[in-house]
Amino acid sequence: MDLDVLSLTTPGVRRLAPYVPGKPIEELERELGVTNAIKLASNENPLGPSPMAIAAIQKAMPDIARYPDGGGFALKRALAAKLKVAPEQITLGNGSSDVIEFAARIFVAPGDEVVFSQHAFAMYPILTQAIGGRSVEVPARDWGHDLDAMAMAVTAGTKLVFVTNPNNPTGTWLNRTDLNRFLKQIPSRVIVVLDEAYFEYVEHPDYPDGLTLLNEFPNLVVARTFSKVYGLAGLRVGYSVSSAPLADLLNRVRPPFNVNSLAMSAAVAALGDDEHLRKTVALNRDGMRQLIDGFRDMGLPFIPSVGNFVCVEVGEAARINDALLRRGVIVRPVANYGMPNHLRVTIGLPDENARFLAALKTALGR
Ligand SMILES: Cc1ncc(COP(=O)(O)O)c(C=O)c1O
Repeated sequence: MDLDVLSLTTPGVRRLAPYVPGKPIEELERELGVTNAIKLASNENPLGPSPMAIAAIQKAMPDIARYPDGGGFALKRALAAKLKVAPEQITLGNGSSDVIEFAARIFVAPGDEVVFSQHAFAMYPILTQAIGGRSVEVPARDWGHDLDAMAMAVTAGTKLVFVTNPNNPTGTWLNRTDLNRFLKQIPSRVIVVLDEAYFEYVEHPDYPDGLTLLNEFPNLVVARTFSKVYGLAGLRVGYSVSSAPLADLLNRVRPPFNVNSLAMSAAVAALGDDEHLRKTVALNRDGMRQLIDGFRDMGLPFIPSVGNFVCVEVGEAARINDALLRRGVIVRPVANYGMPNHLRVTIGLPDENARFLAALKTALGR
């Protein structure tokens, strides 16, 4: 007997589009008959992880028959020391998307409103819908968050606001003054998740460190990750920092073993490798310049970005993307973000960036 399992789900889940995962490089190479494909599609660190993280994984491997430390003692202690916060303020996640989900699940009941910007991270509307919340997408201004409009969009029915700084996929960012003014406008009964997945890449002096705002705004949750600058995306480890009472709530819905032991060991080691972080940021800075110079040469508009990725306007992005794929270059079309004319490209190694630019030039017939 066939069981219509979809009809058994909650209404929010029923309307979710099925997840279409990106293809692994090997699969794509086989499909397109290309070799040496390069992937500049998921904002990963092209240098890979710190060698110290790899050594820590190898050292931890013989112990994987045991459950991980459910309290994440060592990683919380290392984070607390590095970030100058108390371990009680930290919630560990299986990637930062995990802690973002905890925040939504704790505070958003069916029918509650969740405010975020147009062109913001795709997970926010999906998550909101899955738990039966109502997405309030606020039109962007110059591709970035329109903070005044977002503050105006908060109503008595709003439970959560997502602010992404810098934003993915646009790479736009909010300065200290504007973010501060915005947070002051948000009633303290509304939780603000400040998503800082790309925090470590930003070098502008006016870029605010969300952690410095926690004392003034007890409704704030700052989410960060080891997936980007630390090069540990495959291990899935991220965290949030908030007031201790808020962290206590987040930890109540957290499955106790959500972060595995290899990931925690690697994360502790990665935190201690400042040199790798410095190299990663420098490589990103130079790679960003290389791409932007290439876009300028081709006369292509792009959205100035402070992340490890940049959106370039190529016209019919789906067609250009296909042409790039046939040349073994994988980037990210962003039509699902309401940006059908752009492609998002992750900053790669110098020769990867050069290969992308050459393939783009050919694809555009320039
Ligand atoms: C803005 C933003 N937030 C959160 C995440 C989630 O990253 P992870 O779950 O790997 O920490 C991403 C990943 O691309 C992102 O771009």
